[in-house]
Amino acid sequence: MIITTGFDPIPDIEKRALRLAEHIGADYVPRGGTSAAKLLKRYDGREILVVLQETVRLLVSGAEPLEFHPSMGFIRAKRILKGEPDPLIEAAGMQPGDSVLDCTAGLGSDSLLFAVYGGEHSQVTALESALPLYSLLLGGMDSYVSGLAEVDGALRRIHVVHSDHYSYLQAQPDNSADIVYFDPMFRSPLTDSAAISPLRRFANPEALAEGSVAEALRVARKRVVLKEKAQSGEFTRLGFTELRRGSAKTSYGVIEL
Ligand SMILES: C[S@@+](CC[C@H](N)C(=O)[O-])C[C@H]1O[C@@H](n2cnc3c(N)ncnc32)[C@H](O)[C@@H]1O
Repeated sequence: MIITTGFDPIPDIEKRALRLAEHIGADYVPRGGTSAAKLLKRYDGREILVVLQETVRLLVSGAEPLEFHPSMGFIRAKRILKGEPDPLIEAAGMQPGDSVLDCTAGLGSDSLLFAVYGGEHSQVTALESALPLYSLLLGGMDSYVSGLAEVDGALRRIHVVHSDHYSYLQAQPDNSADIVYFDPMFRSPLTDSAAISPLRRFANPEALAEGSVAEALRVARKRVVLKEKAQSGEFTRLGFTELRRGSAKTSYGVIEL
């Protein structure tokens, strides 16, 4: 991967980009006046993360840039802050202060909901196995400015880890997180999902393994939660009870401990 900045970055952004490159083990390339198209041509086939003032952007040849933004997560976070119920928080049975292991971070929208609802004393760890998405998340959680202090504070509290969830779970002690959450790429994709379509080309497409669920049951104190397409066979295959939500296209499945 390559890390760079926008044109004429202030020294602070250059420092952030360098720090990110060091952390990820990526090459830092000073941007100068080079256009995105030229950079992509020069580093053909490599993903380029552009560090900007208030967000980060992932560039790859032949696709639209993917910018870090919590999308629907921001709207749901605002509702949570107003005290309104949220289906994910209800399915997880989360209480303020709970610790959550989000095993499939993606663009971090669900992690944001956990961190907003959980508050300052909660602990949210977001695992992502795809390096370009992990880099986007790490840069985005650190810099994204939403305009709402509670949302920005929650983003900064999320601990982002580059790891496959099975190996990460294996290394955790028994009963060490209140909630373990999985939202893998659906077995049969919802092609109209505006939030997920742009990340599909970077994402780890593997099905959730029974071994990962077994490890999650050992690590979780309260509940293991799975998001899938409504009526997906994955709920039965992996032992989750599906909570149907009217005509919603997606469901949460739970295993209560
Ligand atoms: C459907 S997206 C998750 C979306 C996320 N819940 C959100 O709110 O943005 C699934 C993500 O999980 C990641 N993933 C899939 N298998 C994984 C694994 N074994 N370990 C860690 N991350 C994984 C994919 O790369 C992808 O980014």
